[in-house]
Amino acid sequence: MASAHLDQNRQQPAPAAHSSTLFQQAMRQLTGGVTLVTTNHEGINIGLTATAVCSLSAAPPRLLTCVNARGATYRALSASRRMCVNILAVDHCDLARRFAGMTDRGDADMFAMGDWSLSADAPPRLVDALASFDCEIDMIMETTSHGVVIGDIKEIVVGAGRPSLLYGNGQFQIPNDIVAG
Ligand SMILES: Cc1cc2nc3c(=O)[nH]c(=O)nc-3n(C[C@H](O)[C@H](O)[C@H](O)COP(=O)(O)O)c2cc1C
Repeated sequence: MASAHLDQNRQQPAPAAHSSTLFQQAMRQLTGGVTLVTTNHEGINIGLTATAVCSLSAAPPRLLTCVNARGATYRALSASRRMCVNILAVDHCDLARRFAGMTDRGDADMFAMGDWSLSADAPPRLVDALASFDCEIDMIMETTSHGVVIGDIKEIVVGAGRPSLLYGNGQFQIPNDIVAG
């Protein structure tokens, strides 16, 4: 049940439930890993920064991502039916900002920054990603604003262990100490 008063102990009153501000405020509390979702359509490489990525199943290996249907990457994903999901490390923060459109890149190629494995007919793979998942897109569930893109994983590359790049509370972050194993 949606409510603006979920926590009676909250010291500050929550904003009105009918505003998407409440949703955004709540979702900012969910800190998560950051990925770059890429594809190649008719020889053109494109991609975006995405936190809406999760495992769907291990057998068969599948994952899903939620992509804004108004974006250029969504159109390319829909057409190519291929994607690569690249999990970012803390040292990839500039890439994350670039692929989120947070930095003015002018007319420069998005893939000029970073160590990419590029091919004429495959999604770009970030060579030093923490892990990369090369997927064939099995299904796209269309919602009002986003597509839920389900990928059948065809190849996995696991990179060297480094801290993950996190995003929460509207900021890129590095992981805190582990509290339990
Ligand atoms: C931390 C962060 C996470 C994001 N996660 C997503 C996401 O999961 N799905 C999405 O569609 N856009 C997400 N975005 C926004 C896109 O990265 C951004 O709008 C991008 O410029 C869209 O590119 P496009 O026009 O090629 O689709 C995120 C942005 C940031 C900063």
